[in-house]
Amino acid sequence: MSEEQEDRIKGAEGEPLSDPDHEETQVLQGTEFILRFYRLLKGASLYDRNNESIERMTEDCLQIINPWIIAERPFLLKIVGDNYYFNNLRLPVKADKFLIFKNFSREMIKRGIGKLEFSGEMQAETLKDFVFLLYGLEENNENNHLLVENHMALKGIQSIATGKLEFFKEEDRLVDDKDQKQQAKEVYFKSLNLVREIVEGIKNQRLINIRKAKHLMQDAVSSIKQDESALLGLACIKNYDEYTFNHSVNVSIYAIALGQRIGIPKKQLSDLGMAGLFHDIGKIRIPQEILNKTEKLSPEEWTVIRLHPVTGAAMVIQMKEWGELSTRLISGAFEHHLKYDLTGYPRLSRKKNLSLFGKIVAIADFYDALVRPRSYRKFLYVSEKILGFMLERAGKDFDPVLVKIFINMIGIFPLGTLVLLDTNEMGIVMETQEDPDLIDRPKVCLLYYSDGQYRKGKIVDLREMDEETKTFKKSIFKTLDPNEYNINVAEFVI
Ligand SMILES: [Fe+2]
Ligand SMILES: [Fe+2]
Repeated sequence: MSEEQEDRIKGAEGEPLSDPDHEETQVLQGTEFILRFYRLLKGASLYDRNNESIERMTEDCLQIINPWIIAERPFLLKIVGDNYYFNNLRLPVKADKFLIFKNFSREMIKRGIGKLEFSGEMQAETLKDFVFLLYGLEENNENNHLLVENHMALKGIQSIATGKLEFFKEEDRLVDDKDQKQQAKEVYFKSLNLVREIVEGIKNQRLINIRKAKHLMQDAVSSIKQDESALLGLACIKNYDEYTFNHSVNVSIYAIALGQRIGIPKKQLSDLGMAGLFHDIGKIRIPQEILNKTEKLSPEEWTVIRLHPVTGAAMVIQMKEWGELSTRLISGAFEHHLKYDLTGYPRLSRKKNLSLFGKIVAIADFYDALVRPRSYRKFLYVSEKILGFMLERAGKDFDPVLVKIFINMIGIFPLGTLVLLDTNEMGIVMETQEDPDLIDRPKVCLLYYSDGQYRKGKIVDLREMDEETKTFKKSIFKTLDPNEYNINVAEFVI
């Protein structure tokens, strides 16, 4: 976590807010409020109001609300369709918060409440009153907000207001969702083309359009900031023939997403994307016979392979002369095989502190390189094994903090994972559940086999329970390697 982020979270703990007008502060605090308020609302269904947990959860909420009120700022939360607005700013939903947000809005929608507003400093007892009242509201009563109003007025409380649900027209919502996915796809495929262009350009000694790359990476950053899962989902694309291109784009996506999670400012995130895009550029100078070799490489061939970070760094420096490029880009190419304890390559003559960009690109590179086929190696595809291995190597090959954040971001069953269910059906993970308790219960698209190939079946939610037996209807039995079944998961996820 960045110092900046830490500061803001301190703001959430009762100290004055650092900069309430700042968009990122609003997003962070609005999101945190939803998480804490949802916990409290769920708590109301489990405990009675004097329970210690309720006390603590109420206090957690107050720590978000009151600093805003003290700073004389509005505190208004609105749910419209699948969108959440804090003080009229739309909150981007990160993949790992998706389920909690969804559950929260389900609870609110059930009660017909779409708006919460706090306008005075809140006491614990008042907030508890309100939450238990909210919890006790009957379902599908569209006058619930009036009921709350009356109840609050009777108790002389004027500092809380609720409003009824507003609806987006269904078409609007669909367009919105589609737009995001469409935008992500555009960014992905444009980047892919660009890498292809760049590689050909370098081979033919043409000038490279750095500006175009920079703009695309800025689009990638916006896309990830709005909806992390859309681009991350595309990063599961692997195309055997175009391995290098896909790999470069995927590394840039993983790097941006990880960078975003640790609070790297937006401007630098696009540079980080560029560092990812160009990290393997030095491979252009490796002869194809070595790159594509399926047998074991000779020591001489390894020496050639091991040169690519140095060649790549030199090439990026050269590009730098063609346009304004941050020096940070060089570290992506130079450091991505160095390893955290510097035991990787290139061999260094003296100790060096790895840069943040270098450490991020190294993680993104390693993960993406393993979750895809390689011509010269029998690979382990399965994501959870790779993540497990990466965790084992934390502090040795990878920065221990970054690797943990990365694992958390990818999750144990990332989008596009091929799974076998206990019902003997095969499926592909389409939507992850980010409530930690439900992490093994994603939404899965079932596959069926007909006319010589696997086809898309219906989408099932693994959270579904059998009413009678009170057990889950379907569960993941194990993950499978899509290459063994000749399945291109990307076709199903896109
Ligand atoms: Fe590399
Ligand atoms: Fe790489």
